[in-house]
Amino acid sequence: MATVSLTPQAVFSTDTGGVLGSATILRFPPNFVRQLSTKARRNCSNIGVAQIVAAAWSDRPAARPHSGGGGGRGRGVVSSHAAAASAAAAASPAAEASAIPNAKVAQPSAVTLAERNLLGSDASLAVHAGERLGRRIATDAITTPVVNTSAYWFNNSQELIDFKEGRHSSFEYGRYGNPTTEALEKKMSALEKAESTVFVASGMYASVAMLSALVPAGGHIVTTTDCYRKTRIYMETELPKRGISMTVIKPADMDALQNALDNNNVSLFFTETPTNPFLRCIDIELVSNMCHSKGALLCIDSTFASPINQKALTLGADLVIHSATKYIAGHNDVIGGCVSGRDELVSKVRIYHHVVGGVLNPNAAYLILRGMKTLHLRVQCQNNTALRMAQFLEEHPKIARVYYPGLPSHPEHHIAKSQMTGFGGVVSFEVAGDFDATRTFIDSVKIPYHAPSFGGCESIIDQPAIMSYWDSKEQRDIYGIKDNLIRFSIGVEDFEDLKNDLVQALAKI
Ligand SMILES: Cc1ncc(COP(=O)(O)O)c(C=O)c1O
Repeated sequence: MATVSLTPQAVFSTDTGGVLGSATILRFPPNFVRQLSTKARRNCSNIGVAQIVAAAWSDRPAARPHSGGGGGRGRGVVSSHAAAASAAAAASPAAEASAIPNAKVAQPSAVTLAERNLLGSDASLAVHAGERLGRRIATDAITTPVVNTSAYWFNNSQELIDFKEGRHSSFEYGRYGNPTTEALEKKMSALEKAESTVFVASGMYASVAMLSALVPAGGHIVTTTDCYRKTRIYMETELPKRGISMTVIKPADMDALQNALDNNNVSLFFTETPTNPFLRCIDIELVSNMCHSKGALLCIDSTFASPINQKALTLGADLVIHSATKYIAGHNDVIGGCVSGRDELVSKVRIYHHVVGGVLNPNAAYLILRGMKTLHLRVQCQNNTALRMAQFLEEHPKIARVYYPGLPSHPEHHIAKSQMTGFGGVVSFEVAGDFDATRTFIDSVKIPYHAPSFGGCESIIDQPAIMSYWDSKEQRDIYGIKDNLIRFSIGVEDFEDLKNDLVQALAKI
């Protein structure tokens, strides 16, 4: 291993015309090359090595990559490391393995020479010291850094022009992009098999941005009766203001869908599958064919499935939406949402979002990114426990009805089986009793939280007649939300513990 110690005084020269920036020329101490490994010395010129190490040490890459097409983004944190590695490889493949990646560079001291020269007061030091010159980029951290910045800076006007014209990859402003969020978007695209994903501040805003960007004023959409209530409220109250009309079909009513497509210029069919709260399933392949033959788009809200259980884009959907608040983040600690699909469509949503806002905070992006690392483990566990719980509840004498797509009694069990690899962690059911009995049951369970939301590690239970529909008996009647309906989101606790808890709570009614 080669350990290279550089004093900041030796590194920074101010012969860049006094301008702070990554164009700063690096001058290395006389013993610098000697301290590299034999292979590195043999294979690299002094200048080449200097550039490589500088790239890993400086706050900007030594040779700044040009994206060429405008699609590429993200610099510094990842690209400086990549630039260093590829430069080393170019100099010598052996050197890459033996010398450069192991080279550890000393941290610059608190105030560099350049900073001492240029930042003459506490005021200027307070703003810039330690952050502008010689800031270390932790390319060797395992986790993705949280980049809390509202804006990005450019070395000079030419770099900005290069950025505008797609030759220099960067970001410009926090509303238009963030490296932490971008990593999250890439992870989501990989899981949904999407060309592109845009992450936003909430699942609701993901739907709003998608509908605003893709449904023209005066257009027509189709949706289903069973869905998240706020999505329905948005469609009923806000879309008419843009002259957008809507047909609402029952989830299994394919004739009604065909009728709506035949008699309207439908822009988009937007449906959840499974739906909230009855977990109805829509045949994605079938409805995508129906929609596409009439020139309509299909957008699936796949929040209840997660990309582990269902990949709607591979089944023909044009877009997939998630409330990332649920399974994606998975820890009941953050709100977010995303839209995935073809780049051509997601870019339209992105452009709208860049104007309107609804930005995901970088700290929230990090929490979601971290949560997603265990998405497959959590969802598999929740699938297993939920299926066992649904089977147990269906047999229980105090349960009137169970809604779970994994049960043969579910009206779309055949669809769920063919398009999902797991049936999800939410089980809805009706207890054999009235409003008060149901309330007593909910108040008697001890492990699940009595709360809204679902999909997290902690089990959550609620009575939709109170939690989501308390204000409207009329709406409860229209959408079949009975007083005895329970929505049970199963967490990652032990099945037997949860079952025993339900058993004791059911014994109270
Ligand atoms: C199916 C579905 N879609 C979208 C949303 C809205 O997501 P968020 O709460 O993240 O805004 C929810 C919320 O519960 C939901 O259940």
